[in-house]
Amino acid sequence: MAATQARTETALARCLPAAETIPQRLHDAMRYATLGGGKRVRPLLVFAAGELAGADAARLDVAACAVELIHAYSLVHDDLPCMDDDVLRRGRPTCHVEYDEPTALLVGDSLQTLAFELLASQPLGERQLEMIALLAHASGSRGMAGGQAIDLASVGKPLEQVELELMHALKTGALIRAAVLLGALAGEPLSETERQQLDRFAKRAGLLFQVVDDILDCTASTATLGKTAGKDEAADKPTYVALLGLERARAYADELRSEALAALNCFGQRADRLIQLADFICHRQF
Ligand code: IPE
Ligand code: IPE
Ligand code: MG
Ligand code: MG
Ligand code: MG
Repeated sequence: MAATQARTETALARCLPAAETIPQRLHDAMRYATLGGGKRVRPLLVFAAGELAGADAARLDVAACAVELIHAYSLVHDDLPCMDDDVLRRGRPTCHVEYDEPTALLVGDSLQTLAFELLASQPLGERQLEMIALLAHASGSRGMAGGQAIDLASVGKPLEQVELELMHALKTGALIRAAVLLGALAGEPLSETERQQLDRFAKRAGLLFQVVDDILDCTASTATLGKTAGKDEAADKPTYVALLGLERARAYADELRSEALAALNCFGQRADRLIQLADFICHRQF
């Protein structure tokens, strides 16, 4: 994990415009929002799925950076006063606090387009167009942005479990799933059964990620999380903890982990890294 995280940091630092490039303040803020923090779970999933599919590491660097740039943009916008209004992210002031709101808005815009510029301008093999379309779909109104819209529209409203599942599958699950599928698309083609099983894993892992995020928001400290704890309850957000209570939310996370792992059975040892990541996503402390 540490090696892949460090590799991702280097690749991200290289693909972001230098802070000295005009407009300096925007470029400085883009680097601030992307570098030097974060668990890099999505890049780790790109590499783990890429390894399973025998993908070339240089291609995986590109896919990993693209998905992490979209993720970083989503966090910058998620923290804005018009959304979650958060002041702390990855143990530091959020982008709009450190810089200003207009800059944070443009940081998000620019990180998003940089992700697609990268994905379109490096050679990624025969399924490159499919990779671009996949990440675009996962980021937009039928993916992450759509999930964020449901999240904002649902404040103060108790959701049914199916509605909550859709919201989580979109706002967080879509990008996690895209990370897994991008890694696989960068490698050798999988059989149809393998592709379906990997997709099943990706969807369960994506939902699991947000269920655990909900649990950590109410069980971990601000110092450990690097973001303000207890925000979901204070803001009356629909979460798995609000819906099921802590104990049943934890049981649900375990169930999702088991389902994710079961989907990997057909791959044998080729899936070892993905198995480790499912465990990490389930049992992480921040
Ligand atoms: C936080 O994502 C936002 C969600 C989608 C739940 P991460 O927990 O992956 O955040 P970093 O990248 O490690 O900071
Ligand atoms: C964020 O969900 C999902 C996206 C950024 C798309 P949260 O609002 O729960 O994430 P945190 O808790 O602020 O990291
Ligand atoms: Mg949010
Ligand atoms: Mg938030
Ligand atoms: Mg959260």
